[in-house]
Amino acid sequence: AVSQASIAIRGDQPGPTYDKRIFTQFAEHLGNGIYGGLWVGPKSKIPNTRGFRNDVVAALKELAVPVIRWPGGCFADEYHWREGIGPQAKRPVKINTHWGGVTEPNTVGTHEFMDVTDQIGAVAYVSGNVGAGSPRETAEWLEYMTATEGSLAEERARNGHKAPFKVPYFGIGNELWGCGGTMRAEYAADETRRYATFAKVPRGTPLTKIASGANGADTNWTEVMMRETRRQVNGLSLHYYTVPGGFGTMKSSTDFNEADWAETMSLTLKMEDLLTRHGAIMDRYDPEKKVFLAVDEWGTWYHDDPGTHPGFLRMQNTLRDAVVAGINLNIFAAHADRVKMTAIAQMVNVLQAMIFTDGPRMVRTPTYWVFHMYKPYMDGTVLPISVSSPTYTQGKYAMPSVSASAVRGTDGLVHVGLTNLDPNRPAEVSVSLAGLTTGSVSGQVLTAPTMNALNDFDTPDTVRPVAFTGARMAAGGTMTVTLPAKSVVMLQLR
Ligand code: AHR
Repeated sequence: AVSQASIAIRGDQPGPTYDKRIFTQFAEHLGNGIYGGLWVGPKSKIPNTRGFRNDVVAALKELAVPVIRWPGGCFADEYHWREGIGPQAKRPVKINTHWGGVTEPNTVGTHEFMDVTDQIGAVAYVSGNVGAGSPRETAEWLEYMTATEGSLAEERARNGHKAPFKVPYFGIGNELWGCGGTMRAEYAADETRRYATFAKVPRGTPLTKIASGANGADTNWTEVMMRETRRQVNGLSLHYYTVPGGFGTMKSSTDFNEADWAETMSLTLKMEDLLTRHGAIMDRYDPEKKVFLAVDEWGTWYHDDPGTHPGFLRMQNTLRDAVVAGINLNIFAAHADRVKMTAIAQMVNVLQAMIFTDGPRMVRTPTYWVFHMYKPYMDGTVLPISVSSPTYTQGKYAMPSVSASAVRGTDGLVHVGLTNLDPNRPAEVSVSLAGLTTGSVSGQVLTAPTMNALNDFDTPDTVRPVAFTGARMAAGGTMTVTLPAKSVVMLQLR
């Protein structure tokens, strides 16, 4: 059976910008997120540029990654920047106490991170150490990176980089309610004010400071941070993961049934409610929307895959994750007036990754391809959209099956992202296009025969977008689209 949905798009009422920073990536010193995934060293047989693997850099370049958040995550509040500069052989080897208790060689430090960020064509979002650091450490790191004169600038030049680094974004700690120091909101707010005071760059250099935000539904955190820190920071973060089974009892990334699929989808749809609730609090303190919301950690989190290191958060990525990504990218459009940045966790080999590596091999995940399909949204104009969706029911779960967003791209074309999370039934969608003069429609679709289809190193192209032929223009400014079951579709209207 086919379900019926209807969508109305207003082409004549431009909304906020779909900020390209919504496609920010996150690279933490965690498992093989950095070592092995990005960094192999200049002497590696794996083709590399100054130690960073060419295949991964090229694939990320193709995604037009705008910003990279580093070095954590939880790692950030244990990281001491001085240990990651100077001759690599002389850098201290530490224990990564948060992620697996393995050694951290500090081979990738500030200079190396800036190099790979540059190779990818992105800019840096550096997370400072509030939990185990000091305001002095924050001040000196920023001076080291950005000063044009003085002994820290000279030290940077001796270490190979005369010109200041660009640090457009700086995080005032990470998850201060948890791994960043187990702080109460009030204490975290005071610490944020203190650290933000010393987070300085040379006059005339822009620096966007982002405060550590709430854990999921903790609206009190947002309330306190907005009340106490809104004049010291430019952005406030929010972390929300889709965790079927819940933390501690996470389920498999690949071995799941339809109930697990439905649970995953219903959990990810909660992002909508979270953005509405946190956004309403921010609106009260900041009606002019000067402080943006940065959902700088989101994505799926399953049990780590069998045979992998338990501290490395290595988990497979299937069609299910692709649909999750599409749904979230649609939800962000509806909140684009406040949400200016988001970062899926994480870029390579960790959690809902874009890319997996295994020695010399690399594979793009289904999630990678969704990010690829949504590229035309970057810095486009969100168009108002209303969706009337059929309900998908599975056991105790019931939810709308169709989600959508529409953006007029910087290319002038209207792009419409659609997902159908119903794993069984296609959806026939009738779309009204008010205020748009369009002649033709083309698109791409990402789907697969099974819910847990994935790309592995031997069959890397199982789940990837192909040309979509299920949309056609009809009379009177309307369009009909047949969305396959469990699919993500991106249309382009000319
Ligand atoms: O992304 C993995 C971890 O999840 C991050 O280090 C932390 O910020 C969050 O709890």
